[in-house]
Parts: sequence; structure tokens; C-alpha cells
Amino acid sequence: MRFDIITLFPELFAPFLEVGVTRRAYQSGQVAVHCWNPRDYAPGNYRRVDDRPFGGGPGMVMMAQPLADCLAAIRAQRAQAGEGDRPAPLVLFSPIGRAINHAEVQTWSDSQGAILLCGRYEGVDQRFIDQFVDMQLSLGDFVLSGGEIAAMALLDAVTRLQPGVLHDEGSHQLDSFNPALDGLLDCPHYTRPEVWNGQPVPAELLSGHHAHIERWRREQSLRITAAHRPELLEAARTRGQLTRKDEQVLADLPKPL
Ligand SMILES: C[S@@+](CC[C@H](N)C(=O)[O-])C[C@H]1O[C@@H](n2cnc3c(N)ncnc32)[C@H](O)[C@@H]1O
Repeated sequence: MRFDIITLFPELFAPFLEVGVTRRAYQSGQVAVHCWNPRDYAPGNYRRVDDRPFGGGPGMVMMAQPLADCLAAIRAQRAQAGEGDRPAPLVLFSPIGRAINHAEVQTWSDSQGAILLCGRYEGVDQRFIDQFVDMQLSLGDFVLSGGEIAAMALLDAVTRLQPGVLHDEGSHQLDSFNPALDGLLDCPHYTRPEVWNGQPVPAELLSGHHAHIERWRREQSLRITAAHRPELLEAARTRGQLTRKDEQVLADLPKPL
């Protein structure tokens, strides 16, 4: 799996690639990440990559040509590295894009990777988008200063799903939105001490009884999902993933006032 990232701030990625459980995947090349700066493909002493918007108005716009030249260099290197006849898609991060969710991350985690374009300023010259961008992805309904944080979010979520990345193989299956939880939200977690600030750990978790612990966790997942994301429960119900016991737990929950 290989990701090429087009960014005016490649230095942001170095610390990100060096920490946490995902570090080994990046360092071993299991998930190869290459950063490319469009400034290196801009002509002149000033290596200018942005200009004022036609029609006036505030801010600057990323120019098409340095991006096109940078993209051509990436495509050439990928081809040299043996990329087959299905070239990697070019993804632009943008508030216009489809919001990234678990299904999106799962799809990317089964892919060969992509070329990720991080916008800056007011965004990218529309003609470059029209000619080269395959899809646009958003981190949510708010505006960032640049696409780098969105790129890191996607990379991190995709990388932790790769085999062997998490210490406990398959533990991501028990995370929110994942198959082992039927797409529900995760249950609460506790660690030592058994009593903290007068608050004990729920007795079920100390019982040592595996089935009771599993039942308690399932009930908590149902309760939390019902309270915070009821539409996920409805989706699980539609997929036939809620048991009769689950429905009983939900029916017994206090009704909102
Ligand atoms: C200041 S923003 C430009 C915002 C743009 N003028 C607008 O109003 O939609 C600069 C860059 O940050 C990135 N960006 C901003 N918000 C984002 C979001 N919600 N998701 C993904 N990328 C985002 C995009 O790459 C964008 O080109």
C-alpha cells in the first residue's frame, strides 16, 4: 500500500509518521508514504505556487501548473515502481467532499493506496480539479486551514486496520463502527485502581465470568448507541444484527422525557 501526499508542508508529516502504533507500518514500508511539495515543481526564483483569484476577493488560489507537474512526477515514479495498469486515484481533501466514515476507511484499507492532495489558501484552481481529481473527501462540516490534517486522519485510520499494526490482532474489530460490534459504538473502559475518587469499577468487569462480562459490554454498547447515535442501532436492526435479548435491553432503557 502506497500513499503519495501532495502538500506545501511536508514537514508536518515527519513527526506524525514517527509515533504510536502505526509507526512500524510506516517505517517498514507496509504503508509507504511519500510527500511531494508542489513548490519543487514551480518555476522561477520564488517558486510561486499560488496567485490571486480571478474576479477579486480575499485570499490566494493554488495554481494548476505546479500541481500538474508534481502529479506527473508522482505518476512517473509510481509507474517506474511497477504500478499496474490501474493508476492510483487522486483524492482532494475539501469541504465539498464526501464525509469520511468507517465504510470509507475500510474501503481504502483494502486498496493499493492513493495520491492525496492537500489544499491550502482558498483552495485549488478548479481547472486542475476538473482535469485530474478523481474524488473529494471531507473531514466534516467545518473548514481547516489545509488538507494535511485530513490526510493524516485518513492515513491513521487506514493504517491501524492493516494486519499486524495493532498489538492485539483484530482488536480494531471491537472498536466503534466495526463488524464485531455490529456497527454499534464501543462500551466504556476501566483500568486500575478498582476504586478511583470514590467511584468503583462496575462489578461485572471484576466478576471474572467471561459470559457476564460480554453481556455487560454488549448492553453498554446498546445503551450508548441508543443515547448518542440511534441511527446506527436502526441500521444494525435492518441488517438483522440485533438479537431478541438486545431488543429487550433496548426496550428496558428509560424513555427520554
Ligand atoms: C481554507 S481551506 C479552503 C476552504 C474553501 N475556500 C471553502 O470554503 O470550501 C484550505 C484547504 O483546506 C482543506 N480543507 C478545509 N476544510 C476541510 C475539510 N472539512 N475536510 C477536508 N479538507 C479540508 C482543503 O484541502 C482546502 O482546499
